[in-house]
Amino acid sequence: AIDIKTLRAASNVITLDPGYKNTGSCESAITFLDGEKGVLRYRGYAIEDLAEKASFLEVCYLLIFGELPTKEQLSKFHKDIKEQSIVDEDMKRILDGFPKSAHPMGVLASLTNALVAFNPSSVNVDSEEDMYKAIVKILGKFPVLVAWTMRKKMSLPLNYGDTSLGYIENIHKMMFQKPNEEYKVDRAVIEALDKLLILHADHEQNCSTSTVRIVGSSHSGLFASLSAGIAALWGPLHGGANQAVIEMLEAIKADGGDTSKYILKAKDKDDSFRLMGFGHRVYKNFDPRARIIKKAADEVLGELGIEDPVLDIAKGLEKVALEDEYFKSRNLYPNVDFYSGIIYRALGIPTDMFTVMFALGRLPGWIAQWKEMRLRKEPIGRPRQVYTGYTLRSFKTMSDR
Ligand code: ACO
Repeated sequence: AIDIKTLRAASNVITLDPGYKNTGSCESAITFLDGEKGVLRYRGYAIEDLAEKASFLEVCYLLIFGELPTKEQLSKFHKDIKEQSIVDEDMKRILDGFPKSAHPMGVLASLTNALVAFNPSSVNVDSEEDMYKAIVKILGKFPVLVAWTMRKKMSLPLNYGDTSLGYIENIHKMMFQKPNEEYKVDRAVIEALDKLLILHADHEQNCSTSTVRIVGSSHSGLFASLSAGIAALWGPLHGGANQAVIEMLEAIKADGGDTSKYILKAKDKDDSFRLMGFGHRVYKNFDPRARIIKKAADEVLGELGIEDPVLDIAKGLEKVALEDEYFKSRNLYPNVDFYSGIIYRALGIPTDMFTVMFALGRLPGWIAQWKEMRLRKEPIGRPRQVYTGYTLRSFKTMSDR
């Protein structure tokens, strides 16, 4: 057997694994995932327990610092975040420059990167203390960017939060408060949001998290790495699936609600259509988050007294797919995004903001992974390739081409 050092020294020996289907990029102690059994744990705690018993801010602390916080630790963490919940006024002018039609994910990625310009010290993180400062800064400012991104879309004036409120309630208020109206929110809405964000908080080395780690590995700073992660999350094969699922369900509804027609389309290899919200690179069993979200969708819609016909279409689609040989043989099950959009919609969040909500939930995971990568002093991420182009060619002058 060749040891890894000898293998690395032999620069012409390359393993080829497009999409990194079996290649680990790092060692990590943050999130445990058993795709065969459908198990997900943050720092050893079952996702089912965290979704039921913890708050999103506790989960942030757990992911980033490795332990559930004591009351004192949580209150200091929250206080430090609240002190960072103002962004530079010039950021408003950047937001103003975007057309109203801009996709919120593009706006959010740009604003997150722009934060670097106004917080240059956040890039130099030579100590854990520096890291802590950058972390509470982004946890304070990111919700403002999320709220402003949505408010711009909805032509609402830009505002700041209310630091007397809990982390999630404050975010909700920043997003939804209307001018000259008293802010009121149903407790069920805040609880549903808390739960959804916990379920999205980390998922080991997925596309956006790997992006955050690889960008951060060049020491370009937390905020720039997060901005790259947001761009990676945007795509419909990753976080953008939550928007794509609702659009698909709406299209099925408009087409008469015939789910079997869409199952046939998804199975047709000549058709690029895929059943959005189905399938996962790692889960070859039920995504445990989908199970929790499906139940939550029933509860939230019930508590808010909302009847959404697309929930029935989603359930029908799931039932047909789970009994279909194509989906069974490929272990394709609903993933986290299949039912999440139905809840976001019930909470009054516009469809093109769904992936922004995912980013808000994934923020602590990205931060924890970036921190781990820096503390472990991981080398710069630099995959190799197997070259398939021309060997040496003689240069042709313009007249000979
Ligand atoms: N609908 C129809 N067929 C599918 C689907 C689907 N949603 N997903 C996978 N398949 C099929 C593929 O066509 C392939 O079939 P084949 O073996 O006959 O060629 C087989 O299942 C394996 O699929 P791959 O694309 O090789 O699996 P991969 O791990 O590369 O992709 C992914 C995983 C991107 C999630 C894929 O299942 C997909 O596109 N799903 C729909 C988009 C989605 O819901 N994304 C969100 C994922 S969760 C998240 O990122 C938060």
